[in-house]
Amino acid sequence: MISDKVLDNLPQEIRRRVEPYVEAVQLMTQTSNAKVLRSMAPSAVRGLILQRGKQGVPTLMPSNHKVYFDWTYPNDQPEMRELYTRAKEQQWNGDDLPWHIDVDPENPEKQILSREFMDFDALRASGIRLTNLEERRLNSSLASWMLSQFLHGEQGALFAAAQVTEAVQFFDGKLYGATQVVDEGRHVEVFHRYLDTKMNKLYQINDNLFVIIDSLIQDSRWDVKFLGMQIMVEGLALGAFGTMYQMTREPLLKELLKMVIQDEARHVHYGVLALRDHFRHELSESERQEREDWAFEVALLMRNRFLSFEVYEEWFEHKMTRKEWAGFVTASPGFALFRQVMFNRLMPNLREIGLLTDRIKPHYQRAGLMQYADGRSATQLSGDQMIAELDAA
Ligand SMILES: [Fe+2]
Ligand SMILES: [Fe+2]
Repeated sequence: MISDKVLDNLPQEIRRRVEPYVEAVQLMTQTSNAKVLRSMAPSAVRGLILQRGKQGVPTLMPSNHKVYFDWTYPNDQPEMRELYTRAKEQQWNGDDLPWHIDVDPENPEKQILSREFMDFDALRASGIRLTNLEERRLNSSLASWMLSQFLHGEQGALFAAAQVTEAVQFFDGKLYGATQVVDEGRHVEVFHRYLDTKMNKLYQINDNLFVIIDSLIQDSRWDVKFLGMQIMVEGLALGAFGTMYQMTREPLLKELLKMVIQDEARHVHYGVLALRDHFRHELSESERQEREDWAFEVALLMRNRFLSFEVYEEWFEHKMTRKEWAGFVTASPGFALFRQVMFNRLMPNLREIGLLTDRIKPHYQRAGLMQYADGRSATQLSGDQMIAELDAA
């Protein structure tokens, strides 16, 4: 395999072309579970090498799952029925957000990400000097990048929620799922409207997020779709929304995030309910282990590779290497905070659904993620409680 040193010494143009292959190989060689490798490798090729999400044309993904009908309409899951009732009562209209507010992401009084988000001193130490205005613009680019990834994740959630609504066997879960499809449609609407009319900037989907979405949409097993979307992507998104909600001084975005967080808290709660018994009682031990390894790979993808490379390509491609950028972003205070809050949300849910056994714990320990495992899971925390805690912090 090509080492980082060899890569750093290649001419810029060649390095650009080789790097996606190196990343795909690194991704595929980090797992020791052959089944996880088989299910993720085609997605890694489509996302990292072919860059299917960045071709400027619609992406067609084949889907192949069974649609489960039940003509007896059982009341089979009281807790899901309760979530369904709550979801109906808590519907809201994206048009009612205060869209009249003028958004100026470069105005420090109304910034989306705090100035301390990036460590500009570290950037200066590596020889890159930015004026105050450029610093504010870079912060604004990062905010647009992050919101763009939220939007792309929401599109994935919309289709995954629709697929899962067809495929699950719980009748109360199907009714609940119908409300989630509406919720996700609304999230796509409001994030897109915000980016389109307030930020005037939309970044393409990050390759690694594409890999995860591609992998779960094409998997025929409902519980893998569920694990990928409801637990991993939505769990991490919930943490990211919460961090941005706390950080932003822009009132329209704050209100938008507050509404979305309350919906997402229900979605993750549903994911934990649906998977808890399934993983513990319905799967064989080798099937459960495959999910456990798959979740760990996705957690690593989100932790190590979700590093605004699209912003790097726009700003710094000729000024530093991709690896230097990755190091700089990983160490920046804002991303460190995002990582902390995201995994604080995710890890207790993995514990709750039985995917954090003694077998996998040492791996999470080595990745520095076990410290987040003791918190409350989504079944123990409502959206209102979550907002109250964010406001109090
Ligand atoms: Fe959503
Ligand atoms: Fe969601």
